[in-house]
Amino acid sequence: MLVTTQPIAASHTPSHASSSLTSAVSSGRWTAAVPRWRQHSSTRRTVSKISCKRVSLVDAGTGEARVLTIEPPEKLKTTVVLKARVTVHFKEKRKIENITILSTLLGKLMYKNWLFIELISSELDPATGEEKTTGQIEAKYVSNKDDFYTFEASIKVSGSFGTVGAVRLDNDHEREMFIKDVTVFPDGDESDAVSFHCESWVIDNEKNFNDDRRVFFSLKSYLPSQTPEGLKMLRKRELETIRGNGYGERLAIDRIYDYDVYNDLGDLTTANLRPVLGGSKELPYPRRCRTGRTKTKNVNGEFTELRVSDNYVPRDEAFSEDKQQAFTTKFILAGLHALEVLKVLKDREASFPSMAAIDALFEDGFKNMPAPEEGGTVAGYIFSVIKDSVFDILKGDFAGMKHMLDEILDFETPEVHQRDKLAWFRDQEFARETLAGMNPMNIKLVTESEFPIVSQLDEETYGPRESLLTKELIEEQINGVMTAEEAIKNKKLFMLDYHDALLPYVNMVRELSESRDSKVNTTLYGSRTLFFLTKDGTLKPIAIELTRPKNKKTGKLQWREVFTPGGSVTDSWLWQLAKTHVLAHDTGYHQLINHWLRTHCCVEPYIIAANRQLSQMHPIYRLLHPHFRYTMEINAQARANLINAGGIIENNFSPNKYCLELSSVVYRDFWRFDMEALPNDLIRRGMAVQGKDGKLELTIEDYPYANDGLLIWNAIKDWASDYVKHYYPTAKDIVDDEELQGWWTEVRTKGHADKQDEPWWPMLDSHENLVQVLTTIMWITSGHHAAVNFGQYPFAGYFPNRPTIARKNIPLEMGRQGMKELVENPEKVLLDTLPSQQQALLVLVTLNLLSSHSPEEEYMGTHVEPAWTAERGIRSAFNKFQVRMKDILDQIDEWNEDPRRRNRHGPGVVPYTLLRPCDGNPFDEKSEMEMGIPNSISI
Ligand SMILES: [Fe+2]
Repeated sequence: MLVTTQPIAASHTPSHASSSLTSAVSSGRWTAAVPRWRQHSSTRRTVSKISCKRVSLVDAGTGEARVLTIEPPEKLKTTVVLKARVTVHFKEKRKIENITILSTLLGKLMYKNWLFIELISSELDPATGEEKTTGQIEAKYVSNKDDFYTFEASIKVSGSFGTVGAVRLDNDHEREMFIKDVTVFPDGDESDAVSFHCESWVIDNEKNFNDDRRVFFSLKSYLPSQTPEGLKMLRKRELETIRGNGYGERLAIDRIYDYDVYNDLGDLTTANLRPVLGGSKELPYPRRCRTGRTKTKNVNGEFTELRVSDNYVPRDEAFSEDKQQAFTTKFILAGLHALEVLKVLKDREASFPSMAAIDALFEDGFKNMPAPEEGGTVAGYIFSVIKDSVFDILKGDFAGMKHMLDEILDFETPEVHQRDKLAWFRDQEFARETLAGMNPMNIKLVTESEFPIVSQLDEETYGPRESLLTKELIEEQINGVMTAEEAIKNKKLFMLDYHDALLPYVNMVRELSESRDSKVNTTLYGSRTLFFLTKDGTLKPIAIELTRPKNKKTGKLQWREVFTPGGSVTDSWLWQLAKTHVLAHDTGYHQLINHWLRTHCCVEPYIIAANRQLSQMHPIYRLLHPHFRYTMEINAQARANLINAGGIIENNFSPNKYCLELSSVVYRDFWRFDMEALPNDLIRRGMAVQGKDGKLELTIEDYPYANDGLLIWNAIKDWASDYVKHYYPTAKDIVDDEELQGWWTEVRTKGHADKQDEPWWPMLDSHENLVQVLTTIMWITSGHHAAVNFGQYPFAGYFPNRPTIARKNIPLEMGRQGMKELVENPEKVLLDTLPSQQQALLVLVTLNLLSSHSPEEEYMGTHVEPAWTAERGIRSAFNKFQVRMKDILDQIDEWNEDPRRRNRHGPGVVPYTLLRPCDGNPFDEKSEMEMGIPNSISI
């Protein structure tokens, strides 16, 4: 046993939260008292001077993370001198404030100590059984490079100190500072340095008498049961602090993670009243981050929070200042939202005057736009308002951001239009994009059990359930090459099915446009589109069925019609219009479900639960952490400016005010965690089957999203498997890990509380299940999100190719008058169906923004967490993953050059690169689609 005669830093008991305060109640009033840890601040304790004996860095050939351990021979009382180097960054503001920061910094440097560090042993003091620390030592300014300042402290440590398990930092500066990292090494021997990866904002909270000292653990990861004695209490307290007590309004400086329902999308006005999403059987929803803002009861008796432009997120979830584009994102989204609120145009519904006018958008910065009736160009006006409003917010500062803004508002020709000016019109492209476009996640096989096609909706409410897509119609459209039964048996028939999901909303959406003083112009159908798989492996669309349900209020009967490519000019135009409606359905489902709900929204609870239940020294926290970067922040911005009542999404997508409610209903009826795994999703849609050897066989061999996605999925799974095996030798270790079990329980019971009783939630009771859960989460945040996010502008930027909204009913439904308009001016009917000029421009700006990569993005396979490299076993597993990702990159490039793969290669065909791993140079003259797969959902 090692013995020390004098406990180090005896004056500093471990102190956090309430135990650190000596507040007193006096005469019925709270009297502010000096926190205990501050009571000795004027005489910060250092260790007594004794000689150095021995320092060893334990790696010991075990491959475990390096730790710094002081190990003197027994009975010798010694000290060693360690250096602690802290790298910090101060919050940047406007130029004038930078000067203030600088002068403050200089003043502080000269007159006051403001950064203190203490080392904490992994062992408890054997004499007292309490925490063993060095006491707080002042860290002095050494140098700065760019925006980062280096401070160092010399710390004399007892020879019996043991392993340095954590560092505790105290910011006495009046401003918050970003602690990048801390390295500790024997004085004079930096080669033996150990790192503490921090990447966290630390505030001086002295005025509030809160213990704001922050603890950071070493890179060595520990399961809870393995936690060294000296760190157990710290580990527990850190999690308690992060969980908070569930009360009070959160401040921007807080770092508390908690849950709430989506109750701040609307406001109290009738027009913007929206139901609370989450917390009910009818409208269940994943939880978002609790802000604690005051709730008000609305006329429907629901408690809602008043909307704000800046939603709280825990401090370290906020975008970094370096993420200039993200910073700009906020302002552009705010600017766009302001435009929606201001309703800047007299004629918000003006259609484009011609298809040529749409093309002109991309040719000369709107200058070729024909003038609307009032004079001037609508597009140019919107553009200037957006730009002016953003510039106004920026107040002339930040040249870099201005440059970025110019780039975002400079519309390049979307790739699908750049490569083939007629792609938007072609049936082949319409079908190809269901396999290799921005929404390859809804195409499904028609199976024998689903034929004849029948709706699951109530006939009494919606009208007849049997589809008009009959055996006879199918056989006619495939020219009798086989029977419908044979086509189904041979897996040749596929469908995009937006019938049952949309039909219940058709009458409600139409009512929005039909009221006398309505400013809304939209419409909706339920739709089904059938495709036939041809010999060359491509899909051919053969029929579209549009349905309007019966309306009990108006007495209107159900209306439905089947459209086919047809031979006549009339049929051809009707077919094109039917495709436009289906594309609006598909684009809406993509945005609201496959993008927002399944990635951004469903992932937030995993993040909240991970921070509340998994210590930062937990290996699973360290595996998932890069996959959670900036998601809470972008979601908070989306709540403020995108998905809110009257916001950009509602005003520019067909379901209008029902957009988010629709996503809640799909969450209720469709979403299952286990089906979010790519292989299960493909099997569920009939797009793959599991062979006898366990391998997946794709129903359509050349299905680029599935081809590339499965490569990525399998690589992630192997990486997760190696990682899990390293830390959990047996299944019992998984079951006994109370933090891991706590995390998963909370994901189910709090984060996805409305679905907590579903039987399909996997249990974390085996390696297989844990790996599957982790792989699913890592896939959703990386591959799934990349596949639906970065193709938005390249495919939907040219909006005739993928309109977000269809505004006009198809002429056949409108009877004689509708057909008359079609005959007289078919192009006008199409242009009146497509988004208005204002809608198109707003969507263009939004998609351009949302499809772009951040300059400081972290990509899967190239970004390495410090804790991964610190552990030999993990380092080699990650190296394997990296090599694998490089191989996948080469494979994808090869496939895109393969003429046999017609769904990704051909004249004017956009190659499929959305799941192409980063080659190390994301910005090296690449399109947004081929830059790589970001680890997290950050845009
Ligand atoms: Fe996104």
